[in-house]
Amino acid sequence: MCGIVGFVGEKEDALPFIFNGLKRLEYRGYDSAGIALASRSGIAIQKTQGKLAALGELLEALPSGIPCGIGHTRWATHGRPTNENAHPHADCHGEIATVHNGIIENFQTLREELIAKGHRFQSDTDTEVIPHLLEEYGGAEDLVAAVHQAESRLEGSYAFLAISAKDPEKIVAVRRTSPLIIGLGTNANYLGSDFSAFLSATKRAQVLEDGDMAVVTPHTVAITDQSGSRVERPVITVNWDIKQAERGGYPHFMLKEIAEQPDVWGDCILGRIRDNEVVAQEIGLTPEHLYHYQRIQIVAAGTAYHAGLIGKSLIERLARIPVSVDVASEFRYAHPILDRDTMVLAISQSGETADTLACLRLAREQGAFTYSITNTVGSTVARESDAVAYTLAGPEIAVASTKAYTTQVLVLTLLALVLAKIKGREYPELVKGILQLPLLGHKVLNTMDDIKVVAERMADAHDVFYIGRGLDYALAMEGQLKLKEISYLHAEAYAAGELKHGTLALIQEGVPVVAIVTQRDVWEKTVSNILEVKARGAEVWAIVDERLPASLPVDHYIPIPMGNPLLAPALAAIPLQLLAYYTAVARGEDVDQPRNLAKSVTVE
Ligand code: AGP
Repeated sequence: MCGIVGFVGEKEDALPFIFNGLKRLEYRGYDSAGIALASRSGIAIQKTQGKLAALGELLEALPSGIPCGIGHTRWATHGRPTNENAHPHADCHGEIATVHNGIIENFQTLREELIAKGHRFQSDTDTEVIPHLLEEYGGAEDLVAAVHQAESRLEGSYAFLAISAKDPEKIVAVRRTSPLIIGLGTNANYLGSDFSAFLSATKRAQVLEDGDMAVVTPHTVAITDQSGSRVERPVITVNWDIKQAERGGYPHFMLKEIAEQPDVWGDCILGRIRDNEVVAQEIGLTPEHLYHYQRIQIVAAGTAYHAGLIGKSLIERLARIPVSVDVASEFRYAHPILDRDTMVLAISQSGETADTLACLRLAREQGAFTYSITNTVGSTVARESDAVAYTLAGPEIAVASTKAYTTQVLVLTLLALVLAKIKGREYPELVKGILQLPLLGHKVLNTMDDIKVVAERMADAHDVFYIGRGLDYALAMEGQLKLKEISYLHAEAYAAGELKHGTLALIQEGVPVVAIVTQRDVWEKTVSNILEVKARGAEVWAIVDERLPASLPVDHYIPIPMGNPLLAPALAAIPLQLLAYYTAVARGEDVDQPRNLAKSVTVE
């Protein structure tokens, strides 16, 4: 989704900060970018379709030493990704500039009204109505008052920043649903659609709430809520290390984030297990929460949904509490039956996914207890839940989720164990196994050299099938999504036993099948399914518990050192992620920013 950066300082040059901030937001996905600087001599704008490298070439045309400016990476919604449609957008006189995330739903009506009044539009975007409305309300002279007025005319969910050449010591920011965060510095303040935009300068931040407007100057931040009353939003400290948001010598963020997993697993687990027991409070829950709820409803999207499937299996197996898992975009319109005995668990790396958030709000309306698992402190999902557990994975930059997924799986495993405990079921061996995971994770990473070679074969495929049973099936779903999103190969996950009910018809000579075999209780059954596809000519990649016999009739045998099979979803995710990664690299695709995708999906 689009990214926003703002900088307002005493004397410092805003331009390099904004450009670097945009670079840190690249991971969100974008197709054009631009920067506007405000000084008494006017608004200077440079923008272009394409990547930041293209914008970089235009920056020389901007004045230097200007301490106030805004920047944007655009992911096209209204209007194609062209130079004209790129943000920032300005008013007719070039005195006001705005950048905007989200959608202005009534833009057509406003545009017609403004054109009738003589305003000249340069783009097809919904965004451009904002600077013209601000102009109409005298924004060049009094930006704050104009934003107040303009805002009452706008419908939709959005966030925007506005600057004025006649008042270049401030940025006015508005949040209606789309996230916006203020970074607090010394002699300068910053704005960003997420923390990464300003993490290089400060870890202290204030998260704007829905309906907030902020007037930000180099030394002050004044926030008002929807009713116009002054409010203080809590100052939070983000514990993310800036190094985690940099590539650090790796060719791609995705590879770096795969490699980081054993260490972030340690961060996620340590401190949450004491005396060989999982401490409920450390995952945000109290004993009362745990005793009360009879049913759990998980809602999530994409990879987080796949983590939810693993969670269901573990909670039902270990704690014997019924769990349903639904894709958020479906659940919200499915007239769900929720009550006070239901815990609604939202899983979201970003904490900003529009559909997941909508489910959470629906659950609250219906009186359910809401619990969330997220990676993002201060995110909307975290703030709007009754209780929250952080995955502590650090910033995840690559669009394809890796470490966020495996840490979601780990938190769900911890949740299953605390729920089991109150049901009188204890699994001390499993708890010990969790503590061994970082070590095992390193071992898995160290045995993955061959995967690059087998991935090169995968690169020539057209359709790839992923099969498994139980936890392995849930993992297969995540494996196929990883391959699809970064290599653009068609891939499908099937419950191994279900293939013969139709899909087996598609298996013929040379069709790649990735079989996941980590669950000992069903491995013989999965092996039968492998034989079925082999008999039809499939080329089989098998990701297996290394303790299973190596005599499997497969073409590529990828053994993984494993402990307890219930912990396989984290460990076996590594070869699946690497298989997708190296396949995409072999095909020459843009691994970190795959086409059509965005990191944080804040539209429905
Ligand atoms: C993962 O690789 C995806 N890019 C995507 O499916 C993602 O998991 C989904 O959009 C949900 O995002 P969230 O976890 O931030 O809510």
